[in-house]
Amino acid sequence: MKIAIFGGTGDLGRGLAICFAAAGHEIVVGSRSQERADQAAEGLRAALPEGNFRPMENVAAAEAAELAIVSIPWEGIEQTIPPMADALAGKIVITVANALKFGKSGAIAVQGAELPAGGPSCAHAIQELAPEAKVVVAFNNLPAAALQARHHLGADVLVCGKSRQAREAVIALTQDLPGARALDAGPLANALIIEGMTALVINMNKRYGGEASLQITGLEDAPTISAAAR
Ligand SMILES: NC(=O)c1ccc[n+]([C@@H]2O[C@H](COP(=O)([O-])OP(=O)(O)OC[C@H]3O[C@@H](n4cnc5c(N)ncnc54)[C@H](OP(=O)(O)O)[C@@H]3O)[C@@H](O)[C@H]2O)c1
Repeated sequence: MKIAIFGGTGDLGRGLAICFAAAGHEIVVGSRSQERADQAAEGLRAALPEGNFRPMENVAAAEAAELAIVSIPWEGIEQTIPPMADALAGKIVITVANALKFGKSGAIAVQGAELPAGGPSCAHAIQELAPEAKVVVAFNNLPAAALQARHHLGADVLVCGKSRQAREAVIALTQDLPGARALDAGPLANALIIEGMTALVINMNKRYGGEASLQITGLEDAPTISAAAR
């Protein structure tokens, strides 16, 4: 599949790019600048010579893609999404964006009117700004460094979105991340919970060291993480 990653130059974007390219997908590395996209694609090729990486500016990347991933800081959503709304119509658009603030006492989830498009989540804002896109929340709580290194993640990916069909497609795609299991967490209304949990993960990393991920236990009919991983 041809996957565009907006902010494919960043930490999480490059991690997802490497893992999905290693699984055989064509990655369109999106950026606000063609030069930064070129540089990032060069670095990705050095890390994974067999990978297929095509650098483009974000809007061209949206046009070229079959599926897109929004991997930019939350503050950029209101500027970035509107020019690509037409190109994203009918496509699955995964958002990994978390609205977080960092204070003396740790990371906290941003709430209310400060959020793009008035919130209540980054995912809602993207859906509002690209109304014909099939917005799905996924990968929000995964550690970028582990993805870049293609480590076995041993992590659950919580997926939510309006369209069940789109959620199922993202759940299937997640099998291409090493050691990740995707779980259907329901409608887009719960996006703010998944996004906000990243603040907890960051605080636990700081308190205890390491790279925490989420794991849900007690689900009888869900695949196990090892079964879901390739
Ligand atoms: N890092 C993690 O471990 C991690 C884990 C889970 C989820 N996330 C989420 O993933 C998203 C990306 O995280 P990251 O750590 O990869 O961030 P990042 O490295 O700071 O930024 C990613 C890319 O976004 C673009 N960007 C920066 N500011 C922007 C703006 N105002 N408008 C549009 N584009 C902008 C930049 O690309 P160009 O300059 O090339 O356009 C940058 O390389 C965030 O929303 C974060 O909450 C991160």
